[in-house]
Amino acid sequence: MTTATIPRTRFALVGTGGRSTMYSHALLGTYRDRHDLVALCDANPGRMAFYNREFAAKFQVAPLPCYGPAEFERMISEHRVQCVIVTTTDRTHHEFIIRAMEVGCDVIVEKPLTIDVEKCRAIHEVTRRTGRKLRATFNVRYTPVACRIKELLAEHVVGEVFSVHFEWLLDTRHGADYFRRWHRDMRNSGGLMVHKASHHFDFINWLLDSRPETVFGFGDLRFYGRANAEARGDFRPYVSATGDPAAVGDPYALQLTGRDKEMYHDAAVHDGYRRDQNVFGDGISIPDDMAVIARYRNRATLTYHLTAYSPWEGWRCMINGSKGRLEVVNEEGAFVTGAADPRLDRFGSAMPHQAGAMRRILVRPLWEKPYEVPMPTAEGAHGGGDARMLEDIFVGGGEDPLGRAADHRDGTYAIMMGIAANHSFATGQVVRVDELFAGAF
Ligand SMILES: NC(=O)c1ccc[n+]([C@@H]2O[C@H](COP(=O)([O-])OP(=O)(O)OC[C@H]3O[C@@H](n4cnc5c(N)ncnc54)[C@H](O)[C@@H]3O)[C@@H](O)[C@H]2O)c1
Repeated sequence: MTTATIPRTRFALVGTGGRSTMYSHALLGTYRDRHDLVALCDANPGRMAFYNREFAAKFQVAPLPCYGPAEFERMISEHRVQCVIVTTTDRTHHEFIIRAMEVGCDVIVEKPLTIDVEKCRAIHEVTRRTGRKLRATFNVRYTPVACRIKELLAEHVVGEVFSVHFEWLLDTRHGADYFRRWHRDMRNSGGLMVHKASHHFDFINWLLDSRPETVFGFGDLRFYGRANAEARGDFRPYVSATGDPAAVGDPYALQLTGRDKEMYHDAAVHDGYRRDQNVFGDGISIPDDMAVIARYRNRATLTYHLTAYSPWEGWRCMINGSKGRLEVVNEEGAFVTGAADPRLDRFGSAMPHQAGAMRRILVRPLWEKPYEVPMPTAEGAHGGGDARMLEDIFVGGGEDPLGRAADHRDGTYAIMMGIAANHSFATGQVVRVDELFAGAF
């Protein structure tokens, strides 16, 4: 299937934090001859000013006009914006999707689409009423390894899929990062079951070409948080790490320097947003260990585990079918050390191909010898998914036989499992997804 080529478009970005960099740099750099980035909107003027300085230095462009959230519609009309890219904190995605569509814009929104059923309902209502387009960005679908698995299933190497066993591990650098800032509050992110696992559930939905029907799970905060650290005798008394002597030598402490210090620490005078909080501090309301069991509409079952305090980073996915079994191990980093480590990015994300990391795709047909399928290499951010996704979003026109492009329905299916699991964690009940999302779309 070939997707349409994307016509020249006037984009604005709302939410100029870490993730926005990928879009702004793409629009001002690689795709500058195809599209226009015409304005920025954020609640923090310091962060927008930082980006304008960076854009001038990197791309030799004049400062982009900056707007606060209350001036969002004025920004759209003054700059004849056609498409808004939403990279704000998760709990605000719905607000900017709705406001953009109400004034005639299409929207590209980062995962997760939103964090609860009510906001999801409002997004579907405005999409239906205005007829505007929404693109949900799931970069995992664009990673070479995910595409290879999707192709293998399409080739029926395991026949009809009956069950999936999926484990995702976040190491003590990357995983810890979700406990340092806004994600740590359930009201901002929906917890990792929505914020992080929406990637994973979208991946499974896409592989199975189905959506969840029944969900049950347990989620608990066992590792991070003050009470856990105190019980282990590891509590360190600091609130934010940067510049606090109590944080020195703590491998979990994020000392903001350089670009990140300017973007977050220095900009905190405007809104008090602390990027570098103590992961063993107060105020963490999200689980760090989550176990889920689910059944899909097509009768396939899923067992899923997300651990946010692991010694290594990556995932394992085992797929059982009528003709055999597919086993994938994708270690993105074999280990992390507490010391500054050049193989890690600035927030401690593990780099692919770290020494000793194991990456393997194995097909085990029934009654036959298993065979290995070459593991595709994954250069670039997020397993090589980001660059491929940007090409699809900003150029289009390519082959998309795997159906990687995602809309508001895919965005909804991706958060269903996590929202349902959160309900199950809280109530101890089995959750029927259609009942929970009744009338949402
Ligand atoms: N697909 C991926 O791999 C990936 C990776 C990282 C982040 N993300 C997503 O990108 C989004 C942003 O994450 P981030 O890491 O850049 O966070 P961040 O905290 O660095 O940036 C969020 C920005 O939103 C702004 N903001 C918050 N509330 C606002 C409001 N009401 N109005 C206007 N601006 C507001 C903040 O000031 C900040 O600049 C999140 O939804 C996250 O899930 C996706």
